[in-house]
Amino acid sequence: MAGVVEVVVVGSCNTDLITYTARFPNPGETIHGHSFSIGFGGKGANQAVCAARLGASTAMIGKVGNDTFGNDTTKNFQNNNINIDHLGMEDGTSTGTAVITVDESGQNSIVIVNGANSLLSKSDVSAAEPMIARAKILVCQLEVEPEVSIAAMKLARQHNVMTLFNPAPARANLPPDAWTLCDVFCPNEAEAEMFAGMPVKAKEDAEKASLFFLDKGCKIVIITLGDKGAVYVTQENRTPVHVPCRVTKVVDTTGAGDAFAGALAYYMACHPGLAIGQVIRRSCEIARMSVQHSGTQNSYPVRQQIPDELFL
Ligand SMILES: Nc1ncnc2c1ncn2[C@@H]1O[C@H](COP(=O)(O)OP(=O)(O)OP(=O)(O)O)[C@@H](O)[C@H]1O
Ligand SMILES: *[C@@H]1O[C@H](CO)[C@@H](O)[C@H](O)[C@H]1NC(C)=O
Ligand SMILES: *[C@@H]1O[C@H](CO)[C@@H](O)[C@H](O)[C@H]1NC(C)=O
Repeated sequence: MAGVVEVVVVGSCNTDLITYTARFPNPGETIHGHSFSIGFGGKGANQAVCAARLGASTAMIGKVGNDTFGNDTTKNFQNNNINIDHLGMEDGTSTGTAVITVDESGQNSIVIVNGANSLLSKSDVSAAEPMIARAKILVCQLEVEPEVSIAAMKLARQHNVMTLFNPAPARANLPPDAWTLCDVFCPNEAEAEMFAGMPVKAKEDAEKASLFFLDKGCKIVIITLGDKGAVYVTQENRTPVHVPCRVTKVVDTTGAGDAFAGALAYYMACHPGLAIGQVIRRSCEIARMSVQHSGTQNSYPVRQQIPDELFL
């Protein structure tokens, strides 16, 4: 863990509490589910774990509560070799939680409590300036206060550190300077639709939306399209390119977007000579591996499980 951190993630840590039932309870009703599981989640944490498992020296900047989940989350980062020098623990709040119910048909209903994630502040980010300044890439999302993500990207920019912004979950609008602060802007279809204000269903729509984001000031735009892969466009070559995804048997797509973003961070930080098309093709492959297993972080591959050709 010593030495320079290559990938710095500023973002959320959640504990997922998942109950599996035949059907959803009605208001006021108590029903029995048939199983329960606890998983580590939060978009920030997921992306950090994916990048670290691929082999990037990775740090997490975030906040947990002073409770069992906060302790477990801390251990999980340590188990994944993630630097937690700037993972704070706060008294008087809970660790972020996602209480999830999954019914027989696979539909879910989710209540998220941000808890400690909401307390991550701009000064927490400033405190990590020496680490950010030496990193290869800074990664952020929208599960902490947007102003904190913006402050982190500004800091990275001041030190010529690349920025990757995954604007998830979608919200009504972004702070106006977000666009020009990101080297890589990486939404999924729903987020692209929201931020571009146009439908994004087919790859042609994504191509159009990618140009819209490019015009806003992002240097590289990558829109993920689930089993259709991704579309990207760069300032240098303003022609959108579609990267298809290999067909695969799907077990659980939860966390695929975070696997993609984490892989993207790894490749951009640790394989700087790789052409952007290759970076995206390989990130699709890593995300595809994750949908073949159940769980979120549990489904992220470790180096030994990944074909060598993805590391050449
Ligand atoms: N069914 C699938 N088969 C193969 N690869 C997939 C599939 N679904 C997702 N992927 C891979 O994961 C990437 C991200 O998926 P997606 O665009 O669905 O993100 P997301 O909506 O943020 O995901 P989630 O919300 O499920 O975490 C895709 O670009 C693709 O590479
Ligand atoms: C969390 O871990 C610390 C020691 O690392 C311990 O003192 C504390 O009691 C733990 N908290 C809970 C709620 O388990
Ligand atoms: C967490 O709470 C325990 C008491 O329950 C306390 O001893 C410990 O210092 C607290 N840790 C932090 C980081 O606030």
